[in-house]
Amino acid sequence: MAEHLIAPHGGTLVRNLAAEDERAALLERAASLPRLVVGARQLADLELLANGAYSPLTGFLTRDEYLSVVNELHLPNGLPWSIPITLSVSVEEATALHEGSEVALVDAAGTLQAVLTLHEKYPYNKKHEALKVYRTDEEAHPGVRALYQQGDVLLGGPVKVVALQQQQFSHYRFTPEQSRQLFAERGWRRVVGFQTRNPVHRAHEYIQKCALETVDGLFLHPLVGETKSDDIPATVRMRCYEVLLEHYYPADRVILGVLPAAMRYAGPREAIFHALLRKNYGCSHFIVGRDHAGVGNYYGTYDAQRIFSEFDANALGITPLFFDHTFYCRACEGMASAKTCPHSAEQHVILSGTKVRQLLRDGQMPPREFSRPEVARILIEAMREYVA
Ligand code: ADX
Repeated sequence: MAEHLIAPHGGTLVRNLAAEDERAALLERAASLPRLVVGARQLADLELLANGAYSPLTGFLTRDEYLSVVNELHLPNGLPWSIPITLSVSVEEATALHEGSEVALVDAAGTLQAVLTLHEKYPYNKKHEALKVYRTDEEAHPGVRALYQQGDVLLGGPVKVVALQQQQFSHYRFTPEQSRQLFAERGWRRVVGFQTRNPVHRAHEYIQKCALETVDGLFLHPLVGETKSDDIPATVRMRCYEVLLEHYYPADRVILGVLPAAMRYAGPREAIFHALLRKNYGCSHFIVGRDHAGVGNYYGTYDAQRIFSEFDANALGITPLFFDHTFYCRACEGMASAKTCPHSAEQHVILSGTKVRQLLRDGQMPPREFSRPEVARILIEAMREYVA
């Protein structure tokens, strides 16, 4: 039924999830394996490895794969891949683990999540990875900081995930197979995916709707994995989306789902990564606006768009839809960008993130031209909860 949708990256969905009949044997075997406690980031990676969103990956990258991704932005088989998916341990932990053997990956409560077949353990150069992936080695960058805090040895090899995480947002936590099914049921072929980690504002809505004008359906796919501490929590962002959809979007053209991935803030590299994941979820198109997945001033406004020209479009498969910085223009009486609006900056309603946060914290509504009042009310309420 879903065969007219875009093919997954590499051709098929690779789900590294233990089959029902394998599970009991894995659980039994795992009891006598060395155990490794994995954190939120790796749990998110395991879920994405299990559900096929990371297709064609079969596990955590081995040395060849890691170097190829970091240095060449491709897997050794030639497929584009821009963010290394790794599992790190300390040197002491690594000493106790043997290549060729299995390792039980458990969560903080000690519950088995997955079994890793350890193909390789290898040292790596964090500074080199930082400069390549994040284009900076400054610890002030949240992605670089997370990298520097990792262990000094990487473990590579395939995983078998024992159970899919089903915690938060279970109504929206579609696997790629499920989202593909939903698109197919609606008869969509051309589907645009939208990545976001911030509360939805009018510019987001505008670019989503512009894109939707030319395709069959919109897959709103907020990232709900780990984000930096001053980003607005996913629970609040999801409430904003629910109210926005209720009032301003046609229900038969939009599907809201969640991406359980952690945010890396890797700007251009992460834009490619975000696009490939959405390809696996069945999207034929992907929106890349201003400073996609950026943080601070580390990336130029359109670097995340430019990086797409470094790839073979056929190998990427998914088509990026680029948008300039958009805003409300009082003279145009509508949303616009420098591409479509001839008026001067005084006519434009542009608010910095800091300014918006300040308004919300003071209980004041940002202008309607910036944020829908229904969304602003949720954010003001959430700010009160924070302060309380
Ligand atoms: S991101 O880290 O997920 O990229 P955010 O949620 O703010 O952050 O952005 C989601 C998407 O909307 C990204 O593609 C981003 O480039 C785009 N975007 C955000 N604000 C604007 C804007 N004012 N004009 C054009 N694109 C924008």
